[in-house]
Amino acid sequence: MTTVAPVGARAAIAGLIDDGTFVEIGSQARHRATAFGMAARRPPGDGVITGLGDVDGRPVTVFAQDSAALGGSLGEVHAAKIVQMVEWAARSRIPMIGLLDSGGARIQEGVAALDGYGRIFRGNVAISGRVPQISVILGACAGGAVYSPALTDVVIMSRDRARMFLTGPRVVRAVTHEDVTDEELGGAAMHARRSGVAHLVGVDAAHAFELARKVLSYLPASCWDSPPIAVPADPGPPAAVPQDPRQVYDVRGVIGGLADGGGLLELQEGFARNLVVGFGRIEGLPVGFVANQPRALGGVLDIAAAEKGARFVRLCDAFGLPLVVLVDTPGFLPGSRQEAGGVIRKGAKLLYAFAEATVPRVSVILRKAFGGAYIVMNSKALGADAVFAWPGAELAVMGAEGAVDVIHRRELAADPGRRAGLVAGYREEAMTPLIAAERMAVDEIIRPESTRALLAATLRSLRGACTPRFRHDNLPQ
Ligand code: HXC
Repeated sequence: MTTVAPVGARAAIAGLIDDGTFVEIGSQARHRATAFGMAARRPPGDGVITGLGDVDGRPVTVFAQDSAALGGSLGEVHAAKIVQMVEWAARSRIPMIGLLDSGGARIQEGVAALDGYGRIFRGNVAISGRVPQISVILGACAGGAVYSPALTDVVIMSRDRARMFLTGPRVVRAVTHEDVTDEELGGAAMHARRSGVAHLVGVDAAHAFELARKVLSYLPASCWDSPPIAVPADPGPPAAVPQDPRQVYDVRGVIGGLADGGGLLELQEGFARNLVVGFGRIEGLPVGFVANQPRALGGVLDIAAAEKGARFVRLCDAFGLPLVVLVDTPGFLPGSRQEAGGVIRKGAKLLYAFAEATVPRVSVILRKAFGGAYIVMNSKALGADAVFAWPGAELAVMGAEGAVDVIHRRELAADPGRRAGLVAGYREEAMTPLIAAERMAVDEIIRPESTRALLAATLRSLRGACTPRFRHDNLPQ
């Protein structure tokens, strides 16, 4: 296990909560278990500090587990204290923040500990989509101490000490004989890149708290409140996209040219890098950006991207953040791995999330929008309020080369030399945004440099569609 010292529950609360605002609740609560020598081990507070406080002047409920007290393990009383905070958050309509450092269900308390987690999970689900829930992982967390965060909206890991696994390396070794380090099994790098469990990674606890504060700065106190409006700022420098459809670029540059201060708080940055999701602002209003990333896998959609996108779209929709969708994708990744992996079932999650969303939704087609991916990426037909296209955009069932090979198969067999001409003809006849604009699948073909102003004006006019209300929960994907 890591040699970095634990941050400690009280220091964790102090690191997150505004000075002088923390009010502790339940500091004297203790377990009454007696088996396995537990009568002699009754730390006050039962290994978790719970209470209320402000983050950047806005009230939250918070709990912080103390790994120095019974390993931060969760017994009946420890669980009851967390459930009380969940209920407090629900009643007060304020966010709930967990600072986790726990070996999971307290083994000595058996079923009482398991039931404790059951109650917490039920609470997490009951407030899902109603109030924001953020989990900050500060140490080695196992079992329920990772499943509860998985039910919350955003999981932040502190790279130096955080580990997340259902069972730790010792149990893994005993059961499966697999020899794996705690970091390989559940370190921040693995969860940021491979599993997608971690939305954000801080270098240490202080950085993880800073990230939690940033996330909260984009979210309303509850679905019944409006997201916090900031002072509008100029966007970053505008970025063009290469005309050659095969040339890659970083779509985050385009987002930077649209967002206030060029700012994007990207979630799950290292996971499914072919889709970029994150929070930004336009004229001070928080929005969710969803963008194909041509720099990774050419911007194709696949299982991981669909699940990542679906969860983010539902998160934004639940909390009233408009969606700004930047489209440049050649389609869904074909192949037996994706099919066997369930791309039909899992790709449908993104389709469902966009079709279901009732917040303002605006798409900008930067370049390619092909096939199923054209529909999925917040098309007009799926209910987008507005779809703009840049002049070089190409919209079609598939790319020109593939299309020509299918529809001109016989001509090409007879005369392969005709291919270039047929491709050019298809591009002109079937792919230009003008054709889509005639059919109102594109509302306007716009100049790239006017995109930010048009987005701002469109979102301003759609403010009424953001009316705070409960829309739906934020089901894990
Ligand atoms: C009681 C626990 C505990 C637990 C750790 N401790 N986990 N006590 N119940 N679940 C205690 C240890 O006995 C030790 O106490 C202290 O915490 C520190 O633990 P170490 O093992 O020394 O720490 P470390 O080497 O950092 O390893 C951390 C760990 C490991 C990887 C979390 O402790 C571990 O594997 N624990 C068991 C994890 C687990 O399988 N939990 C149950 C999950 S089931 P002393 O007194 O020696 O300091 C569950 C149900 C939910 O949670 C179901 C979800 C659907």
